[in-house]
Amino acid sequence: MACNTVTGANKAKFDLLAAEYDAKFAQSTRQLEEAVRANIDFIGARNGGRLLDYACGTGFLSRSMMPSISECVGIDLSDNMVNVYNTKAQNEGLYPDGMRAYLGNLALPGDPRPAAFSGPGWFDFDMAGVSVGFHHFEDCELAARRLVDRLRPGGVLFILDFVTGSLADMPDAAAHGVVRHGFSEGDMKGIFEAAGAGSDFGFKVLGKEVTFHKPNGKNRTRRVFLARGSKA
Ligand SMILES: C[S@@+](CC[C@H](N)C(=O)[O-])C[C@H]1O[C@@H](n2cnc3c(N)ncnc32)[C@H](O)[C@@H]1O
Repeated sequence: MACNTVTGANKAKFDLLAAEYDAKFAQSTRQLEEAVRANIDFIGARNGGRLLDYACGTGFLSRSMMPSISECVGIDLSDNMVNVYNTKAQNEGLYPDGMRAYLGNLALPGDPRPAAFSGPGWFDFDMAGVSVGFHHFEDCELAARRLVDRLRPGGVLFILDFVTGSLADMPDAAAHGVVRHGFSEGDMKGIFEAAGAGSDFGFKVLGKEVTFHKPNGKNRTRRVFLARGSKA
């Protein structure tokens, strides 16, 4: 897989973190899972629908949506995250038909439809979602376009991420592969419209702040939003 600086930083960080990711973020994951489940209708999830869980990590988003949909296909650029995703899905009896993940990066400039992701199973998704991955992308506008390309007409793109300024307390953000310190409603609307998923655009800041625990006791709280829009 080609690597630029941001991609390389993300891959190194998440390959290292994969084995302890779920334990480390157990509390924030529980809070986010509740939020996703409470907003299934807002997202527009369809019973029996197929989800492309992009930057899937260990599978938080797939797992949160799974009771409402039939199939989750993850993609992530970290081998170790993909392995944890698939091992957990196997342990839960969901692999491969319910949940499976692949190593990849759809957000690289150049070939918009890499050979490994060009078969018919890689298109016509009902939903494509990114959970707390968007602020890590080198070019999130390009990523949004690439995800919309994978949707059926009327399919839904949705993003769960941090509200503008939420990451301003991270002076070493770039070393963690963080590109943006969050997004406003206007940022999101522009990105969705430019990507071709501006129909029925919706944006919601989730009521409760999410707490990320730090071993040094310096916990961080973040305001989180959900944005969604449909492909024309
Ligand atoms: C903060 S984790 C979130 C994981 C998961 N979505 C969740 O909510 O727990 C960010 C994930 O984005 C992945 N990632 C970062 N940039 C990516 C890219 N360009 N393409 C695919 N995955 C990417 C990382 O490897 C990592 O697993």
